[in-house]
Amino acid sequence: MTTVLGIETSCDETAAAIVVDGRDVLANVVSSQVDLHARYGGVVPEIAGRAHESLLMPVVAEAMVEAGVTDHDIDLVAATHGPGLIGSLLIGVSAAKALALGWDVPFIGINHHEAHLYAALLEEPELEFPLAVLLVSGGHTMLIEFQDHGRYRLLGATVDDAAGEAFDKVARYLGLGYPGGPQIDRISQQGDPQAINFTRPMRNDGLDFSFSGLKTAVVNYVRQHPEVETADVAASFQAAVVDVLTHKARQAAQQIGASGICLAGGVAANSELREKTLDICVEDGIQGFLPSRAMCTDNAAMVAATAWWRIRSEGPSSLDSGADPNLRLPFIDT
Ligand code: KG4
Ligand code: ZN
Repeated sequence: MTTVLGIETSCDETAAAIVVDGRDVLANVVSSQVDLHARYGGVVPEIAGRAHESLLMPVVAEAMVEAGVTDHDIDLVAATHGPGLIGSLLIGVSAAKALALGWDVPFIGINHHEAHLYAALLEEPELEFPLAVLLVSGGHTMLIEFQDHGRYRLLGATVDDAAGEAFDKVARYLGLGYPGGPQIDRISQQGDPQAINFTRPMRNDGLDFSFSGLKTAVVNYVRQHPEVETADVAASFQAAVVDVLTHKARQAAQQIGASGICLAGGVAANSELREKTLDICVEDGIQGFLPSRAMCTDNAAMVAATAWWRIRSEGPSSLDSGADPNLRLPFIDT
């Protein structure tokens, strides 16, 4: 039995979790800094770093109390070491290394994207490979073939804005507040998704994505039609994003003969995306796996679960390793 303390501080969530053997989540504590950044309409790196510094140790302590473990029970300490905000990453990595050193257990640095990929497996360990994973967050939009543990192939990615970024920018333009994704999701329930036929950028053009033109289309439409209902704009925008995402996820799954489609990352919490993805999977007779909303957004349970798999293939990270804000997944070529 391996008990892992996972730490996640790559962006604006300060999180710690205790996970046994990559699947039993004893505690998963997330302290969101959303209120601190809301007035600026986005994450302010300097504020995020300072908040992580003061929040991290209380969050780790809370996770350990909730899990009913002491320092003697921890076998491995893991922290996200990239990609993300460098100041924020360093708080988590430094704390994790100090705890590992003090407790005389190994430390391992984990790739934030890989952790998002493992969120689905954490909740559904029986998932069969290969899987087509749609990783959609505030900073990234990728379609990945998850062939096996540690084996990933990049099938497509955004050429400009990430899907979450588009949600956040459109929400800000519509005056819906921050973070924008959940606000658009909420207000869209009252809108008509067919009210405006927004462009579907690159829909039938391979597996790459583009969202910046769609954002501009929303701005132009609202300028020309100031009387339009905000809920209709939000619902129509969301329908366009979800249509492109699900269409390409389906194509990717067919291309690789996937046993199923998994969603990952913050945008995977979107109600419309979840519903449409499941519809596609039912139609195509493949598995559809949607991690719970808490597991889609940034958390440390996914970091601890990934660490359990990674430590066996890669071993621990050196205590003099640092953080890499631009860390990439080691994609294979074939
Ligand atoms: O994965 P995540 O928590 O942080 C990053 O690593 O980026 O993703 C955050 C992103 C934000 O852009 C946020 O607006 C979006 O996920 N998001 C949503 C929803 N919940 C969060 N987007 C659409 N619908 C949602 N319900
Ligand atoms: Zn994330």
